[in-house]
Amino acid sequence: TDAYETILVDRAAAPRTALLTLNRPKALNALNLQVMREVVAAAEELDRSPDIGCIVLTGSARAFAAGADIKEMRPHGYMDMYLSDWFTAWDRLAQLRTPTVAAVSGYALGGGCELAMLCDVLLASDTAVFGQPEIKLGVIPGIGGSQRLTRAVGKAKAMELCLTGRTMDAAEAERAGLVSRIVPAEDLLAEALAVAETVAGMSLPVAMMAKEAVNRAFETTLTEGVRFERRLFHAVFAVADQKEGMGAFVEKRPPEFRHR
Ligand code: HXC
Repeated sequence: TDAYETILVDRAAAPRTALLTLNRPKALNALNLQVMREVVAAAEELDRSPDIGCIVLTGSARAFAAGADIKEMRPHGYMDMYLSDWFTAWDRLAQLRTPTVAAVSGYALGGGCELAMLCDVLLASDTAVFGQPEIKLGVIPGIGGSQRLTRAVGKAKAMELCLTGRTMDAAEAERAGLVSRIVPAEDLLAEALAVAETVAGMSLPVAMMAKEAVNRAFETTLTEGVRFERRLFHAVFAVADQKEGMGAFVEKRPPEFRHR
């Protein structure tokens, strides 16, 4: 955990949470392969930690991440991009079971926007700027942006952003449904940690099931998705925390979930 060079990992920012901060300020947190390896390795390690109930991913005030590292990608050709399966490790963030919160301030462009969309909850500061400007560099999104942005904001806006490279401010991103909420820049981290602490205070297996159920909406038909939800809903009645949560409500006291 301490060997990372491009990220900071803080397990003490809020109870039962971890704060992962992108830390390449000179390059506006451009996502090179080292950042990818470190973010994915740190997130997977935190995902395996039973004492971590939520992971917050953030950048700096000026930039969440200004995209994949253009200088690193520039010299490559098709064959080495294909054989190294460039960027494929990022997909593993979508497979984490622990809920994740992206706290986005400043630029979230290209790979930065895609990285934010790999997280479960997306909180934006009023200074956030989102876009998929790859086309201006003669390329297209490569970390899922054409798919996740389209699912988040719909075809017309995703097409416009991907085809023209136009960016959107936080207000437009919120109207379009890309972000869950906008908060003042100076409150962003505290608010993201508060969300994370709230999530981490729930039953971890039940939070994982809620996450799995929502994610299923993007992978299957409505009938199959509802069937999947119903199976998990029945299954939570085998988790001790169902008795605790419902018991606490009836007894008018705060719940003390066992599986946290
Ligand atoms: C490498 C980057 C970078 C990037 C910024 N920098 N973005 N380096 N890759 N994506 C570096 C700059 O080169 C510069 O380094 C330093 O960070 C500060 O950036 P400036 O441009 O001087 O800052 P500013 O004028 O404030 O402009 C900010 C900006 C601009 C509007 C965000 O940096 C910008 O347009 N960046 C690129 C955004 C972009 O196109 N992202 C998509 C990338 S492609 P020096 O050394 O000069 O000081 C992508 C593809 C995903 O993500 C998958 C496709 C395969």
